[in-house]
Amino acid sequence: MDKFVIRGGTPLLGTIRISGAKNAALPAMAAALLTDEPVVLENIPQVRDIETERRLLAAMGAEVELGYGRAHHRTTICAANLSKNPEASYELVKTMRASSLVLGPLVARVGFARVSMPGGCAIGARPIDLHIKGLEKLGAKIVQEHGYIEARATRLKGARYAFDRITVTGTEDILMAAVLAEGETVLENCAREPEVVDLAALLTKMGAQITGAGTSTIRVKGVEKLGGAKHRIIPDRIEAATFLLAGALTGGDLMLTDCEPEHLTYLLSKLEEVGVKVDAGETTMRVMGDAAPLVGCDMSTEEYPGFPTDAQAQYMVLMTQAQGSSIITENIFENRYMHAQELCRMGANIKVEGRRAIVRGKTPLSGAAVLASDLRASASLVLAALVANDETIIDRVYHIDRGYERIEEKLRSVGAQMKRIGEILPRR
Ligand code: EPU
Repeated sequence: MDKFVIRGGTPLLGTIRISGAKNAALPAMAAALLTDEPVVLENIPQVRDIETERRLLAAMGAEVELGYGRAHHRTTICAANLSKNPEASYELVKTMRASSLVLGPLVARVGFARVSMPGGCAIGARPIDLHIKGLEKLGAKIVQEHGYIEARATRLKGARYAFDRITVTGTEDILMAAVLAEGETVLENCAREPEVVDLAALLTKMGAQITGAGTSTIRVKGVEKLGGAKHRIIPDRIEAATFLLAGALTGGDLMLTDCEPEHLTYLLSKLEEVGVKVDAGETTMRVMGDAAPLVGCDMSTEEYPGFPTDAQAQYMVLMTQAQGSSIITENIFENRYMHAQELCRMGANIKVEGRRAIVRGKTPLSGAAVLASDLRASASLVLAALVANDETIIDRVYHIDRGYERIEEKLRSVGAQMKRIGEILPRR
């Protein structure tokens, strides 16, 4: 298993290009199941979850050509010959919960889907009951047995459905089902994340009729058939947030390019409050980490446009290096503080009480052997290691490979002392 060895204490200086958003690429790839024509997706990040999704779609009969190494990270998916009984196996769903994104498109296109129920997860229970309820509203018959969900429908029928709570992939899944349903669907209490808007943009290029994406009410007029399209995936706002925090923490001067500052408005205002200077252009952000001393500021994660839960762990590291106490409240997932114990082992003073974490700063961090427990927790350990004295060894970095494209190369290119050791994993 790969590990990262990081020697902290170097300010990060230089330029990093932001990759395409994993969480926009995954639903976009699933959307290709809705048509028998090729869908061409650009700016697909070269991360492990994308490879998992390739295997998932290929197992159902789709042809997926992941075109890395060539311009634009272009991927072509053709789902002309889908299996009549497509299945997302436990083997794949257990490694990537977003596999449930194929439910909606499959029922809509071939009238059947068999998808393994996701089990527990390192960051919380994460059920998919709201996806199931939504599909039932559209007329699908759902059977749950032997750890699988089977959904069937001859043709889905448009309906009005209000999500009991905001769910990102739930909104995406039901949106993909509704585009081929008969008649009009009105979805309420939808997620407003940029990734939902990006999916709606792709579906619209494929011929879907959607209004309201990016607001809490999405209206869809179902169409009989969708066609192929070409689409460029939006930049990864969480990767950008992670590098902004890395620049701030190390007292560096980092320029991020090919990003979308508008998707990070809330985080940028929070950073300003903390004392981090960021100059945002149209597609660039420059973070100057030594502009002012860092001040502890409370933060609560919220659905978009609030502070993203996917940047909570990384923000916690910043708070360990800020003066004073700060209270972090995690409102989206019930168990997303696994990194806190590891940060304490490096010298942080963090007390977790249910959904709240109280961070007392500033405490020097010292290198230690630590364990990555999930994708964003791993990113936070990398950030902590970059400011810790001496050497940190991070184990189980396969978590980070799920969602960050060549993170060690990107960080090394701006001065980080970081290397990957252990088995070299095959990259596609
Ligand atoms: N929830 C339910 N029932 C459902 C669906 C969700 O109770 O049917 C609950 C969840 O358990 C959670 C809350 O609702 O407490 C919100 O979960 P959501 O469904 O929005 O999360 P998700 O769609 O499974 C996506 C991202 C996550 C990100 C969350 C929140 C993708 C592929 N994943 O997950 O990304 O944290 O939204 O923004 O888009 C990551 O990239 O590291 C990651 C975990």
